[in-house]
Amino acid sequence: MTNGALTDEALLALPKAELHLHIEGTLEPELAFELAARNGIELPYASVDELAAQYDFDDLQSFLDLYYATMAVLRTRDDFAELTRRYLRRAHAQGVRHAELFFDPQAHTARGVAFNDVVDGIGDALDEAERELGMTGALILCFLRDQPVASAEEALTAGLARRDRIVAVGLDSAEVGYPPSLFEAVYARARASGLHAVAHAGEEGPPAYVYEALDLLGAERIDHGIRSIEDPELVARLAREGIPLTVCPLSNVRLQATPDLRDHPLLRLDDAGVRVTVNSDDPAYFGGYAGQNFAAVRDALGLTEDQARRFARTSIEASFASRERKDALLAEVEGWQP
Ligand code: ADE
Ligand code: ZN
Repeated sequence: MTNGALTDEALLALPKAELHLHIEGTLEPELAFELAARNGIELPYASVDELAAQYDFDDLQSFLDLYYATMAVLRTRDDFAELTRRYLRRAHAQGVRHAELFFDPQAHTARGVAFNDVVDGIGDALDEAERELGMTGALILCFLRDQPVASAEEALTAGLARRDRIVAVGLDSAEVGYPPSLFEAVYARARASGLHAVAHAGEEGPPAYVYEALDLLGAERIDHGIRSIEDPELVARLAREGIPLTVCPLSNVRLQATPDLRDHPLLRLDDAGVRVTVNSDDPAYFGGYAGQNFAAVRDALGLTEDQARRFARTSIEASFASRERKDALLAEVEGWQP
């Protein structure tokens, strides 16, 4: 037990699972330029600095516009492998031992990239990280909620042939106006095929979307879920049913969902008994990877050793790793000495 504030080093060393990470959101400006050159694609920015200067967002949509435009540099299996390799190395240096990676297949197949090149490229890097760094991971196929349901059905059909890599389905992209109810049938098919289910809800959208994600989609975890704080009955239900929230503090600040981190509901949700975890969402765009999100919470809200350890433990328990892997990682968390 330490008396002073947790140090950056301690928070980076805390063993943790990353449960809310869009692999396309780890595309750092330097790599975007490298891949653009390799693939003969012209980015509409003169330099890395000019691209990085665009990372000033008003809301989710203003981010998504840049996110989808920039990921156009990702074309080949090797591109996806390189993207994932760089992410996993950074994440490992910040204590991540298990990573469940969201990917947006519709955003790639719509550009003519083969579904299997995306899955295999990410998979190559996951295998390498397991061999070289002892990390584990898996993929979560996200449906773009602002695209037609028929397109989500196609993505699911492709995904069901890749259950060797894909453990769950998720729902992302522009939230308001695209309620979870639209995807009830797609999720039913995914779950009937044995996939786990998670969904973004309550990032910009209302608490009603969190209820829909639970009741209509069968979501086992809620991604973000921060607007649940507006509905005490929902908070009580999340706590009672043990539904984990994958919270992304720096993302919420950058996308103005919680413009001031000091107002963030993370610790209020924890106090109410909700199982919260700390994640990085799109770290190349939002200013920090997993450990840096913990440090930001410490700076803005205060974070005790008990809280940090609890969030790490929850991230492992709430993951889709095997029982054996979870037990090994939980032992690492207990051995953490800040
Ligand atoms: N896609 C990538 N990041 C996202 C976020 N924070 N919310 C919804 N969709 C996303
Ligand atoms: Zn997200």
